Amino acid sequence: MPMTDDELRERLTLARYPRSSAYPHRWVYEHAMGPNPLWLAEALAEVMALEPGMRVLDMGCGKAITSIFLAKEFGVKAWATDLWIKPTDNWQRIREQGLHDQVFPIYAEAHDLPFAEGFFDALVSIDSYHYFGTDELYLSYYARFVRPGGQIGIVVPGHRVEPESDPAGFHGPEWWRRHWETSGAVTVETADLLPHGWDDWLLWNTVGNQAYDQPDDSGDIPMLRADGGRSLGFTRLVARSSAE
Ligand SMILES: C[S@@+](CC[C@H](N)C(=O)[O-])C[C@H]1O[C@@H](n2cnc3c(N)ncnc32)[C@H](O)[C@@H]1O
Repeated sequence: MPMTDDELRERLTLARYPRSSAYPHRWVYEHAMGPNPLWLAEALAEVMALEPGMRVLDMGCGKAITSIFLAKEFGVKAWATDLWIKPTDNWQRIREQGLHDQVFPIYAEAHDLPFAEGFFDALVSIDSYHYFGTDELYLSYYARFVRPGGQIGIVVPGHRVEPESDPAGFHGPEWWRRHWETSGAVTVETADLLPHGWDDWLLWNTVGNQAYDQPDDSGDIPMLRADGGRSLGFTRLVARSSAE
């Protein structure tokens, strides 16, 4: 039996993510490229100062639903920037939400950004920064695009217990804090693991497999079960540009 929208709402409405709960779960499943991006964006926004009218880069936005969410919830203008997803497809989604004056789709590679330095009030990135940002030199480049004193925030899959190596680029808060602080480009304000990250990740995948008739053990489930909640979760990192 396919899952109804009511069942989805019942299983996936989380008190810790009240803003995300207002968005249809099916819409989120159909556009998410990993664990629920709206939950992750909401958790990031809790520790950032996003104000109406701010210019925000959403780097590695995938299908742009976090840009749509940030524009609707916080009144920011979002530059929905991605490499794998065509900006024309994102533009269609943006227009469907009536956000054509607030969310702008951009095609770009993270090392070759087509923006003016200092253009953005804030940079955010959800479940993406580990694909392009683990290189030591990257943050110094990336941070140029935020205004002096502006914030840079990411949420990425991470570990409570730092592994000796992780080919997927998953690291814990302290690894990321050191990584960013040694650049000298920023001051780290928040570096933590999201509360209940492993539980939420497992819930999203378990319900998704049921709703879309996938095998119980498909997607991220074997990795999450093998970890058993001991280490995996989401690292949240927010820093402020120290440029003058
Ligand atoms: C796992 S997806 C997450 C997408 C979206 N934020 C979400 O949560 O659904 C990772 C995203 O990172 C982007 N990405 C990976 N490497 C990139 C690079 N070198 N430059 C720009 N974007 C990159 C991909 O285009 C992809 O959409």
